[in-house]
Amino acid sequence: MRKPLKKAVLPVAGLGTRFLPATKVLAKEMLPVVDKPLIQYAIEEARAAGIEQFCLVTGRGKTALVEHFDLAYELEHTLKERAKTEALDLLRSTSMEPGSLMSVRQQVPLGLGHAIWCARAFVGDDPFAILLPDDLVLADVSWVKQLADVYAETGGNVVAVEDVPREHTQRYGILKVGQDDGRVAEVLGLVEKPKPAEAPSTLSIIGRYVLMPEVIAEIARFERGAGGEIQLTDAMARLIGRQPFHGLRCQGRRFDCGDKAGFLEAQIAFALKRPDLAGKVRDFLSRYV
Ligand code: G1P
Repeated sequence: MRKPLKKAVLPVAGLGTRFLPATKVLAKEMLPVVDKPLIQYAIEEARAAGIEQFCLVTGRGKTALVEHFDLAYELEHTLKERAKTEALDLLRSTSMEPGSLMSVRQQVPLGLGHAIWCARAFVGDDPFAILLPDDLVLADVSWVKQLADVYAETGGNVVAVEDVPREHTQRYGILKVGQDDGRVAEVLGLVEKPKPAEAPSTLSIIGRYVLMPEVIAEIARFERGAGGEIQLTDAMARLIGRQPFHGLRCQGRRFDCGDKAGFLEAQIAFALKRPDLAGKVRDFLSRYV
């Protein structure tokens, strides 16, 4: 029996410099796609996989992310009085089970690995998911659920992967691939942000992981990797051979919302999925292109 997957860590301490000036006061993860902030998409995706406990790794100026999931008593009261049931439903979509959301601080931005290590007390001895809210997913089945299903079969670590153009390998963690059935690939090695010529493949890690708690001890060696940062990829690489490790090509589309063009594309793709907006959006798009 595998230990059930009930926990998720969401690193959200980044400065969001690529979206300045919008992110001067506003957390990047609070930027909406259509009408919902990125962080809420991530929480909903994790919930759809049966995750019950959430840990946000925050930093200075990020308290709005925690507030977003709190009860807005006055607003709720006013909406009730005015019988605004639709708005009330939307508001309630942000409610959490009492005690299911916690946050820890990453005081210094030392890298993704370090951010995850900050959540070590939350992780304890349990398997856990990681969601990077910048990677936004449009799929029929939650990507965390797709990873959790593979974890239930294979055990060990499972990461979401996608083929990227070779000239982009320097933006991602890249797999060295063993047995591969076109959906699930055995991971033989991992390299963080290799140059195109040095990349062992073009199969890249996307921001969804199911990891075993042993990765925390590997991060705690605090070795500096690519960009001088404490990299999650390097810590994961040290688990290979000791625990099963697989990459899963998930079904659905992923948008890189850490990038302006990717963020804009996500707006269009998500709006076109909305019955109340699709017609209008299609209409005005045809006037621009
Ligand atoms: C991080 C990880 C990288 C992964 C990527 C996915 O990089 O370090 O391995 O491929 O997320 O989005 P970052 O985007 O933080 O530079």
